Amino acid sequence: MARLNLLEETRYEKLPVSVYGSQQEASLAVAARIAKLIRDKQSRGEKAVLGLATGVTPIGVYNELVRLHKEEGLSFQNVITFNLDEYYPMKPDAAQSYVTFMYENLFSHVDIDKANVHIPDGTLDKDDVVAFCLNYERQIEELGGLDLQILGIGRTGHIGFNEPGSAPNSGTRLVTLDDLTRSDAARDFGGKANVPTKAITMGIGTIFKAREIILMAWSKKKAPIIKKAVEGEMSGEVPATYLQLSDHVEFVLDEAAASELTRFDTPWLVKDCSWED
Ligand code: PGA
Repeated sequence: MARLNLLEETRYEKLPVSVYGSQQEASLAVAARIAKLIRDKQSRGEKAVLGLATGVTPIGVYNELVRLHKEEGLSFQNVITFNLDEYYPMKPDAAQSYVTFMYENLFSHVDIDKANVHIPDGTLDKDDVVAFCLNYERQIEELGGLDLQILGIGRTGHIGFNEPGSAPNSGTRLVTLDDLTRSDAARDFGGKANVPTKAITMGIGTIFKAREIILMAWSKKKAPIIKKAVEGEMSGEVPATYLQLSDHVEFVLDEAAASELTRFDTPWLVKDCSWED
């Protein structure tokens, strides 16, 4: 069960939410947590196993991690990464691949051992996908599980590419993308028709096993789905609502993404307000 919430102001919120004044401020805070995890593990001679996400949401975090590497000596030599997802089919060197994204935004700029980078393979033969997915799960498990998983959220409520209808016990697998997800990706692909219809994604169950989960969301565009994910009933229709069951999840939002939460949208329901004309 999730941690007890003792505050009236957040009584509609079914999981812990931190709201920052800006996306930049929030990104720095998340990057600092990741850096601390990496350094704590280093000091004990251990590996840090990170679950990473793509999309515009985590770019500020990756920028800050690169800065910490270049200016403050943060080393990634003890870091092992597993990305959430990849389009299927997808060539790793395509401009839209998540391999390209991760190298451009993080891996090419830090001292991570490339052998420690794992991203679902969009070039597999259909017949080989199940074995690949089982092995992805096995690799994570053999390393002792994910220390930290970072997430964005799609407007469908997806985490990874776990679209509406995904089950809470789902593992890494091949999935069909939601129409809204493909519309949101259309710009990157020069039209929706070019967006793959499928992807390989870690499951809700895979994500859930991480020892720490941070979901980030910025901008007004995400406010309606954030309200549903944080205050709505848990349901496969909004897969992110399953995170309500976790006792080690935190949503990190900017003010715009948080703006439809009850404490901001109708604050008189959760605290004393002084009314003006
Ligand atoms: P975004 O995507 O970070 O590009 O908004 C998030 C997601 O779809 O999970």
